Amino acid sequence: MRLKEESYDVRSADDGQSGLDIAWEWKPDLILLDVILPGAYGTEICALLKNHPKTRHTPILLVTSMDRPEDIVNGLAAGANDYICKPVNDLELQARVATHLRTSRILGEMVDIEKHLSLGRLTAGLCHEVNNPLTVVLGQLELLTTMTGDTRQQKCVRLAFESARRIQALVKAMRDYSEPFMKPMSVCSLNAIIERAIAIASLGWAGRPISIDSRLSPGLPPILGDQEKLQQVFINIITNASQVMPNGGTITTVTGRPLTDDRGVFAAITDTGKGISKANLARIFDPFWTTKENWQSPGLGLSVARRIVEEHQGHIEVESEEGKGTTFRVCLPIRQITTE
Ligand SMILES: Nc1ncnc2c1ncn2[C@@H]1O[C@H](COP(=O)(O)OP(=O)(O)OP(=O)(O)O)[C@@H](O)[C@H]1O
Ligand SMILES: [Mg+2]
Repeated sequence: MRLKEESYDVRSADDGQSGLDIAWEWKPDLILLDVILPGAYGTEICALLKNHPKTRHTPILLVTSMDRPEDIVNGLAAGANDYICKPVNDLELQARVATHLRTSRILGEMVDIEKHLSLGRLTAGLCHEVNNPLTVVLGQLELLTTMTGDTRQQKCVRLAFESARRIQALVKAMRDYSEPFMKPMSVCSLNAIIERAIAIASLGWAGRPISIDSRLSPGLPPILGDQEKLQQVFINIITNASQVMPNGGTITTVTGRPLTDDRGVFAAITDTGKGISKANLARIFDPFWTTKENWQSPGLGLSVARRIVEEHQGHIEVESEEGKGTTFRVCLPIRQITTE
């Protein structure tokens, strides 16, 4: 069969029942269904496939005779996606199979996007609802810490307060992570974004000897983006860098144009911290993955950063050597900015 030659993985069945068994066990990407089958009508088999959760969304192409138009009508009514007439022309069959596979893949991707957006909205709403009563709990617990005299009671209140703060940090991180990307893009300067991110992140390491070696390339073309979100990317990366240098070190920031891509700009942030092991490198962008034990680190910083960069059609890379340090490199596309 030509489909096999085209390197499709094809399985065939001699009758309706074995066709159903193969389809439900193997879950193919597409089914070719002959209308005339030993012991069953293809249209009945088609209805059974379309009513089964495992094959409900599988495209079905009926193979039918030109002289039986009622089969085509019944087959389409039973849920078939398309039909092809005998004698089957190989080229037509290949074209139809490829088209239906492509359509089905696009539909699958759209369903995934919709699921992701609904989940995002649900999480954002839930975080908002949790945050309001939590703020009250935190306020009251803070008040209690000043009121209770007994040290045992104070210890309990402090523990409750710290746990509530931990929930608050988690809720905030989850909200940042799930928040749908809505703001309109504006013209931004990558250098200005980096400078602002350093200014904000450095508030977190006050008193520690961390120096900034800034090598921002002058005259970079502007990018189109959400300035605040992009700032968040670099705040997350720079904060991580500062946290892996508890005794101080240097954070080097470089911006420029990639040699291999004349439609982009990049920013690289290098630290002189402990580095990341090969095993951990594969996990650092996973949501909720952290090696930090303090309550403020739910392990979302880099997953949020990557999501934002990808929403800007960019990408983020990391290179690290244990004991020496780590470099995060963010590449973003420059866009044609019209002035009209
Ligand atoms: N510059 C770095 N050097 C060494 N390890 C790093 C560096 N940046 C990230 N990591 C590792 O990647 C993990 C995940 O980082 P990520 O920013 O996603 O979460 P986090 O910093 O642990 O928590 P959060 O950012 O949510 O406060 C960190 O826990 C750390 O182990
Ligand atoms: Mg972090």
